[in-house]
Amino acid sequence: MKITTLLLLTLMMTVPAVSQTPLLGGELSNSAATSVADIDEVLPRMKEIGLNTVLVPAYWELMEPEEGMFDFTLIDRTIDVARSENLNIVFLWFGAWKNSMSCYAPGWFKQDTKRFPRAQTASGKPMEIASCFSDNVLQADLKAFKALISRIAQKDPQHQVVTMIQIENEIGMLESARDHTALAEKAYNGPVPANLLKALGIKKGGTWSDVFGTDDYADEKFMAYHYACYVEQLAQAARSIHDMPLFVNAAMNSRGRKPGDYPSAGPLAHLIDFWNTGAPSIDFLAPDIYDTGFKSWASQYAIPARPQDGGKVKNRLFIPETRCSGNCGVRALYAFGEHDALGFSPFAIDQASPSETANITKAYNLINQVSSIEPKSKKNNWGLLFDQEDSERIIDDDGTVMTCRHFYTLPWDARATDGSVWPEGGAILIKLGKYDYIMAGCGVVVDFKTRTEKEQEQQKTLGEDGFTESGEGVESKPSDKFKGKRLGLLSVDEIEITPEGEFVYQRRHNGDQSHQGRHARIGTDDWKILHIKLYEY
Ligand code: DGJ
Repeated sequence: MKITTLLLLTLMMTVPAVSQTPLLGGELSNSAATSVADIDEVLPRMKEIGLNTVLVPAYWELMEPEEGMFDFTLIDRTIDVARSENLNIVFLWFGAWKNSMSCYAPGWFKQDTKRFPRAQTASGKPMEIASCFSDNVLQADLKAFKALISRIAQKDPQHQVVTMIQIENEIGMLESARDHTALAEKAYNGPVPANLLKALGIKKGGTWSDVFGTDDYADEKFMAYHYACYVEQLAQAARSIHDMPLFVNAAMNSRGRKPGDYPSAGPLAHLIDFWNTGAPSIDFLAPDIYDTGFKSWASQYAIPARPQDGGKVKNRLFIPETRCSGNCGVRALYAFGEHDALGFSPFAIDQASPSETANITKAYNLINQVSSIEPKSKKNNWGLLFDQEDSERIIDDDGTVMTCRHFYTLPWDARATDGSVWPEGGAILIKLGKYDYIMAGCGVVVDFKTRTEKEQEQQKTLGEDGFTESGEGVESKPSDKFKGKRLGLLSVDEIEITPEGEFVYQRRHNGDQSHQGRHARIGTDDWKILHIKLYEY
């Protein structure tokens, strides 16, 4: 047997395939699925990018252009083309509200303000936001939504194509934190429901202003609960017709703005108890992350199980929208690695150029590969995400201390200091066993130390060649006698992982590629999977 074949065989490790497929998504821009020709053109393109799921709007105005007359042309076409492309679809119900507004309600609804009242500011100014307190609004929206779900059930009874439904889109109040129509005022002056008080652990009941006060934040709570109750009606209908995961999405409350200035009362992290109580049939709340602070927003929506939740994860992270950019790929790696995300989906991916989506294709390819690793052989996993300001994370994995950094922290990379903007770097880090890790990503470097070695580490400035600058000394004082053991790299192999979970050796990283055994790294222009084994000395 040739030595290369022997090496290949010994480096292949077979692990059975897994069933858990991550949702590698992309959301279409708002008007991308409004004609058959556009649907025919866009979905195959999404397949080529490497998505397994496309988030596609279902437009109320085009589905029920005349009251009671439904036209499912666009829905049917989306399902048919997706089926032939082997893609999954998540429909986004652009019903009563889209980005707070009621712009996707049909003309007959918009024009009949008597039957379908708009929310009002405190001064009585109507907003283009249908009032969620109006039963007419709910019944009209519900009727159309039921028609949509029934059609999906007919076209795709086995859930082979349509896998989830988003109810409405970025519900929220703008211009005024609260609806002041007569119907809304009636609810506002009524008692806070007992189940909500219980969920919030509040003992003393009363009207909404008695319990929560009268500021914009109190108004936001009132609206959040009532929006949730409204959504619950749609969710229950969907469940009874054709059951599948249901979620709602939110625009983030960023930049220090107040309710009414940001789209308030939507499924925001600080309102989760109001939404969960009002809409128990919704499976999860999902953040649309456009603003800075990606990690922080993501962590607020990844809420693990607590004993009082009976072992059920309180909220699973799914990011239905995020800015489609060169940083999406590493952010996806982070979301799956750190938070076991259900899915990730850059917005308006159809409008991005191939050079802008290349990073997504590469990241999704890595995520697909690592998802083939048998879950029981994964002992732990983490997500890494770095930029210039947040460039290091130290993970102490049961005594194995991993110092993970942005690739540009390496002293010899000129782009670190020449004024270049650091592209974000990130990875999924998986522990297979003691001294045995997988790192899949782009733009990261990791070194490994024992805990005692890390504790005795001296901070030194490294020159561009990677060695200590002169004058800083290389040896510790004799009184600082070294205690314990050190960790070294036994091997760093670049691998590919087959759908069956086999590790296929590509090449060894040693010498200059591991800084002579000091670290494992993946450059900012590379997307790789490394299999890293360590030893003690
Ligand atoms: C968030 C919305 O949900 C999308 O439909 C779209 O309007 C984007 N904002 C635009 O940035």
